[in-house]
Amino acid sequence: MSELEEAVLADASAAELLACPVPDRLRAAHLRRADADLFDGEDDPDVRRSLHVGEVPMPHLAPDEVLLAVMASSVNFNTVWSATFRPVPTFAFLARLGRQDDWGARHDQPHHVVGSDASGVVVRVGAGVRRWAVGDRVVVAPAYVDSEDPHTHADAMTGDQRAWGFETNFGGLADFAVVKASQLLPKPEHLTWEEAASTTLCAATAYRMLVSSRGAVMKQGDVVLIWGAAGGLGGFAVQLVLAGGGIPVAVVGSAAKAELMGRLGCRHVVNRAALPAGIRDPATWRALGKQIRATAGEDPHIVFEYTGEETFGASVYLARTGGTVVTCGSSSGYEHRYDNRYLWMRLKRIVGSHGANYQEAWEVNRLIGLGRINPTLSSVYSLDEVGEATRAVQLNQHVGKVGVLCLAPKPGLGVEDPARRDEDRLALFRTAD
Ligand SMILES: NC(=O)c1ccc[n+]([C@@H]2O[C@H](COP(=O)([O-])OP(=O)(O)OC[C@H]3O[C@@H](n4cnc5c(N)ncnc54)[C@H](OP(=O)(O)O)[C@@H]3O)[C@@H](O)[C@H]2O)c1
Repeated sequence: MSELEEAVLADASAAELLACPVPDRLRAAHLRRADADLFDGEDDPDVRRSLHVGEVPMPHLAPDEVLLAVMASSVNFNTVWSATFRPVPTFAFLARLGRQDDWGARHDQPHHVVGSDASGVVVRVGAGVRRWAVGDRVVVAPAYVDSEDPHTHADAMTGDQRAWGFETNFGGLADFAVVKASQLLPKPEHLTWEEAASTTLCAATAYRMLVSSRGAVMKQGDVVLIWGAAGGLGGFAVQLVLAGGGIPVAVVGSAAKAELMGRLGCRHVVNRAALPAGIRDPATWRALGKQIRATAGEDPHIVFEYTGEETFGASVYLARTGGTVVTCGSSSGYEHRYDNRYLWMRLKRIVGSHGANYQEAWEVNRLIGLGRINPTLSSVYSLDEVGEATRAVQLNQHVGKVGVLCLAPKPGLGVEDPARRDEDRLALFRTAD
């Protein structure tokens, strides 16, 4: 372990951290460009074969960036996409960024350090960083935005932006990460490193989809149908709906997950495993509509979508007249089919949503800091086990979020304000796994 890593673990002061040299190499979970055709023609692209953990060279810092000593990270579904090289190898994104300028060229490497969430300690700041300092304890918002693009000033997500650790290199599943200062958020003081690292990407994405003026603009009393409600996005969506005075209707894939939703405070739960036929079948849409009206009393104002091809026809059907289907993904396939008569005759809207801008990420981090929204951490792996951690998400064997310890030597560290911990709420998904 380097002197700098030892100093971070010993809670060293900013001056002591600055006195330690930055090591030349770092341990990181990474993909190899040479593996990009590894799974060609295979039905089960097992991410344990493509995710490697080993040393890669330490990148240098641009003036608007910080070097973060990563205490913990978590698995997002984008690491399943990148580690399967589908729908396209992420090396294509790195090559495009590499053509931008000299700073972009750093990203175009034969290895891709992945991961889009992190908690940790700032150990170096670039010359242009003003609001953050060495020693700050932070979490990372995943939108990597070029603030020189004028469009980003209306809404960063409609401008030149990339998903950090997916469309950029030097992501969070590593002992050190390179992050723009405009991605940093204060770490909520009552959370452990691994709890804090399991929130930002999914919570901020769900916040934009449901609450933001750029998403479905949920109001008090709205009925919100949430597919995959016990998953990464879903666990935050349910909490945001409850916290905002809405009525969540959770769809989950097992009786155990249905029970978890009840403990989270969700009174209306559908177990999709118990539906009489497949979700693509219009007879199922009608049965589901009946079930939702019977339990929640009305059709959904909002349908929270990312499940894609499998569910999209049902989502467009199930939203009430004038309602909104908000989507940020296509887990089961991106060539959606739906009956357009239900959309236009009933004046529904489909809203595309992607990630979250810095302000939206800041707002949801504030809610997490206030304890209104809780992490949904269910299990914790070491960085060396990142293949197993990602495989669990690939196979839908998890609930909530799967954490990964990087520099943190064991779970449970990093809490500065233990009095504000609601241990029962924080353990809800752990005991369900
Ligand atoms: N654009 C963005 O900014 C953004 C951000 C985050 C995530 N995403 C995308 O959103 C998707 C979900 O991410 P996540 O982190 O929430 O993943 P996750 O933790 O794996 O959760 C997904 C949930 O989907 C449900 N599901 C899986 N297959 C389904 C099917 N055929 N029909 C209905 N439900 C199904 C599962 O729940 P049950 O089995 O219990 O039903 C699972 O819990 C991924 O495709 C990801 O890439 C996009």
